[in-house]
Amino acid sequence: MSFPAARPASQASEPIFRAPKKSLALIGFMGSGKSVVGALVAYRARVPFRDLDFMIENEAAMSIPEVFARRGEAAFRSLESRLLPDALQSGAVAALGGGTVMDDANWQLIQQRSMSVYLELSFETIWERIGRSENRPLVAGRLRREVADLFERRRPRYEEAAYRVDADRSPDEVATDLLALWPG
Ligand code: S3P
Repeated sequence: MSFPAARPASQASEPIFRAPKKSLALIGFMGSGKSVVGALVAYRARVPFRDLDFMIENEAAMSIPEVFARRGEAAFRSLESRLLPDALQSGAVAALGGGTVMDDANWQLIQQRSMSVYLELSFETIWERIGRSENRPLVAGRLRREVADLFERRRPRYEEAAYRVDADRSPDEVATDLLALWPG
């Protein structure tokens, strides 16, 4: 009969506690590049990518504008909160929606499970990027002033993120900064 070689005492008796790896949560207003940059970071870090908007569309089996039009914003928000824990999967990169962080329970969960990074852009640049957007229910048919007000209401929450990066650069440059910040 043979026995496995004895391990050194230090290895044999040390309990292995590994804290779950934090996810990387990308936050910021619509048009800040969360999905494109997030996909790039995940690809370069070889980790899973979770796009919360895409998860919502998948679960609802319809597009986000359809969810808003047929079920209303409240139903969209409850789906968003329900799927958030899955998006923040340990070790993954998560691109959240522009409004996800405004719910306090969502924000608490994000802070517990992730390293949050605000992709920061001036409202001028945001408007250049999304002003004509037809597929964003909170922009389509709204005046610039209304969207600017929404941005200003959200900004203090975005600024609570653990880190901020200047998002007014190429996705590749933003991704490089994020990879340097996030231990993965
Ligand atoms: C929203 C932003 C959208 C999407 C939905 C609501 C918001 O996501 O979740 O239209 O409240 O700002 P993006 O920030 O990815 O455009």
